[in-house]
Amino acid sequence: EPTGTMIYEGKAKKIFTTERPDQVLQYFKDDATAFNAQKRGTIVEKGVVNNKVSERVFRLLEQHGIATHFIERVSDREMLTKKVTIVPVEVVVRNVVAGSLAKRLGLKEGATIEPAIIEFYYKDDALGDPLVNDDHLRLLNVATPAVLREMRELGHKINGVLLPFFKERRMLLVDFKLEFGVFHNRLILADEVSPDTCRFWDQTTKESMDKDRFRKDLGKIEEAYQEVLKRVCG
Ligand code: C5P
Repeated sequence: EPTGTMIYEGKAKKIFTTERPDQVLQYFKDDATAFNAQKRGTIVEKGVVNNKVSERVFRLLEQHGIATHFIERVSDREMLTKKVTIVPVEVVVRNVVAGSLAKRLGLKEGATIEPAIIEFYYKDDALGDPLVNDDHLRLLNVATPAVLREMRELGHKINGVLLPFFKERRMLLVDFKLEFGVFHNRLILADEVSPDTCRFWDQTTKESMDKDRFRKDLGKIEEAYQEVLKRVCG
């Protein structure tokens, strides 16, 4: 367990202080929640998988000139990061129809979306993270038009890096969620990029290799997370 003071506990992670005021330790738990925490459970070793997959993705994005909060992975479940002020917006990027998009618009799962679409959700547990547009976020004083434009551009840019990366690993990146934070007046990618926050379908079988196995009680959840770790981190 980390030595600092816990300053935040979320559904899947805890954040601890470090000796440096501008850095925090992100600790990845095995706890799993879905449907705004109405469904709860444990995915054994999920924290280790998500920490290592996030490390690989953050390093890849940094190589492509995309700034992230990642500094270094310090243990199986801990990652040292820059201490950001999180923008309370979930940026969802979609390459294939699935999940809430299929449900909301009555579309069949599996159709390709090209170019990818971006959605904004207002991060508010009490409201159940509602889908919002730019005007709503401006009304809520959550983000300026310039920040929203930057998040949308970064969403597309990150997708352009991640789609081929996962394809090379025989995984279809169906959709994913990003969170950004402000660090020294700059917008950088924060949180995690993992099978908790992405939909991955096996290229051949189209089987889910992500948290949908937990959401939909598909079984073989731990096996799927370990397979993602194997394909991403070797
Ligand atoms: O449920 P929905 O289809 O809107 O999810 C889109 C993507 O965003 C999925 O990859 C899902 O895992 C991710 N997501 C997330 N956290 C949420 C909501 C969605 O990581 N609170």
